[in-house]
Amino acid sequence: MLTKYLAVPALLGMVFLAGCGSDDDRPDQPDPDLVAEGRKIFRFDTFGDEARWTDTLRMHEVIATQVSPATALAVGLKVDADALPPAVREGIKNGSVDLNSPHTTVTLLKLNAVVGVIGKVETVHGKDVLRRVGVTCALCHSTVDNSFAAGIGRRLDGWANRDLNPGAIIALSPALSTAQKAVYNSWGKGRYDPRFSLDGINGPVLIPPAYGLRGIHRITYTGDGDDVTYWNRYVAVTQMGGLGSFSDPRIGVHVRNGDVDLVGPKLPALRAYQLSLEAPPAPPGSVDAAAAARGALLFKGKGQCISCHGGEKFTDANLRLHPVSDVVSEQEPGGAPSYASRTATKQYRTTPLRGLWQHPPYFHNGSAATTAEVVARYNERKGLGLSAAEISDLAEYLKSL
Ligand code: HEC
Ligand code: HEC
Repeated sequence: MLTKYLAVPALLGMVFLAGCGSDDDRPDQPDPDLVAEGRKIFRFDTFGDEARWTDTLRMHEVIATQVSPATALAVGLKVDADALPPAVREGIKNGSVDLNSPHTTVTLLKLNAVVGVIGKVETVHGKDVLRRVGVTCALCHSTVDNSFAAGIGRRLDGWANRDLNPGAIIALSPALSTAQKAVYNSWGKGRYDPRFSLDGINGPVLIPPAYGLRGIHRITYTGDGDDVTYWNRYVAVTQMGGLGSFSDPRIGVHVRNGDVDLVGPKLPALRAYQLSLEAPPAPPGSVDAAAAARGALLFKGKGQCISCHGGEKFTDANLRLHPVSDVVSEQEPGGAPSYASRTATKQYRTTPLRGLWQHPPYFHNGSAATTAEVVARYNERKGLGLSAAEISDLAEYLKSL
């Protein structure tokens, strides 16, 4: 199993959980300095997770010998064009920078230009050597706008990187068994199983957006936490391998990495940044306005969507969660057990729908490829009696949110 963890006393766990309570005492619109600090953490802080990615998984060796920029882009890693000096930009354009050489990847890491991957590069006898590598939140929850080239552009924080194949990247590690590699290689693009390392079950979910969450007090697909901080601590410690502790008796998870806490002190700023990220509006001209207007009426009427997807964020998350029998996304693909059954609440949160156009496929397990497939699924499972034209109108409306 990938994660090494030590039990921490339950009492300690309670203390940590107490820190993740409701945010009544913490305003949802915090000060700009905290947001700016949180942005730095979101993009660049590894929380000391080099302990996992370098010391355990030896990804620095893999990157320096096998991962050219072309390979990195092919597994969905993104390059921050703003971090590239003019000479490198020019070299990429005119072909003098070799995108098929792992050396170039090391150069990009030295420039801090690979989104979500932080490398420590030392120059030895005039040659760049990659010593340490770690990952940040931006690895999964940022992408770029492709303004320079495919996969190279300006950062878009909070956008799920649905091109990223985290399993294929982890599977490159020489430290894993053949059986572990097979699991990681089975996940595919945009998917990650944030519980496999703890419960050994293989049932990946889509990387969700980290934007549009202000005012929503149930976090994750299953509403496990009442604040982003719950999940930030979970993922930073148990998945990224950051130094610090996470404990939740509801799922029997008690993890402590190292003797220092490089996670806890950063959570308030990290939270402020996430809550500042708005869902992106649909690009102008991308939606047929007349069809979407008809769809809006179906959303409230015949489709009955509003009964769960109500309010400004299109979710009843602050009021209730839903049993598995309410959702139309299960059975899980590949015969995996219900994702909800592996979580603290065993239920699903109604997903907020703003920015939906931006991140197909849909549902926690990606089982609907398009908004039309989503509506067709509801129509069939809930017996809504929508015509083909109505399905298409409602699907158009969903793309406008
Ligand atoms: C390896 C990929 C990966 C990394 C790195 C990662 N996440 Fe996630 N994140 C996920 C997945 C997958 C989920 C969905 C889990 C679930 O809902 O059960 C998720 C869920 C979330 C959610 C909940 C969204 C919602 O709709 O409730 C937030 C917020 C979030 N992540 C923020 C972060 C932050 C902050 C970091 C850095 C500390 C981070 N993530 C690092 C993959 C990742
Ligand atoms: C009984 C409550 C309920 C009703 C009614 C309902 N939904 Fe949902 N919806 C949910 C829940 C819960 C989820 C999360 C399921 C999952 O991720 O597997 C969800 C997920 C979705 C998603 C996926 C969002 C994403 O980012 O992956 C879309 C789109 C959606 N619903 C649209 C609709 C439409 C359109 C209707 C009406 C035809 C509708 N829903 C009716 C509760 C409901």
